[in-house]
Amino acid sequence: MEKLKLGVLGSGKGSNFRAIQDAIEAGELNAEVRIVISDVESAGILDLARLRGLRAEFVPPGKFRTKMEPEAEQRVVALLKSENVDYVVLAGFMRMIKTPLLNAFPSRIINIHPSLLPNFPGIEAWKQALASGATVTGCTVHYVDSGMDTGEILAQREVPILPDDTAETLHSRIQVAEHTLYPEVIATLNANQRSVL
Ligand code: GAR
Repeated sequence: MEKLKLGVLGSGKGSNFRAIQDAIEAGELNAEVRIVISDVESAGILDLARLRGLRAEFVPPGKFRTKMEPEAEQRVVALLKSENVDYVVLAGFMRMIKTPLLNAFPSRIINIHPSLLPNFPGIEAWKQALASGATVTGCTVHYVDSGMDTGEILAQREVPILPDDTAETLHSRIQVAEHTLYPEVIATLNANQRSVL
């Protein structure tokens, strides 16, 4: 079967991207990261991609804080199209996705979020979970739509919240779960049809 062509977008250190690329290199995921794009020039995810010999591009996001300017998003679309990607994988990308990109890849953009959605959408979801007094949280892989972490859910994994957890220990435990869940879900995607998960 042909490899699934992925475009990865991230704003941070890129540990989820690394887990995906590790799964590919280990032969556990029949896919290929064609390009990694970041809205943050100094983001670790770009360094990681370059270290692995992959195409890495910084796209200046423009004047907004929570989304890209339409021109910037159009540039992202052009880059993804130039690599003919099948799916767009958000891996710690901290801006909302708007119409130029949503329309260019309908039902082809997925995200990982560090909570059991619909609980705790938005930023620093692990801190929200800790503050709520919940004893269980987790992570969710979902399709991206125009809302904030509202798209159709593909898969979730639970993670316990322990009595002595800090924000850091809890986020680390969630990330361990993310690093197995995300490659597993991507392995179920198909270039020609919607996932049946
Ligand atoms: C991950 O925990 C991911 O779930 C979260 O950012 C982190 C990125 O880590 N994403 C969001 O909060 C999106 N709303 P990474 O750069 O090491 O993959």
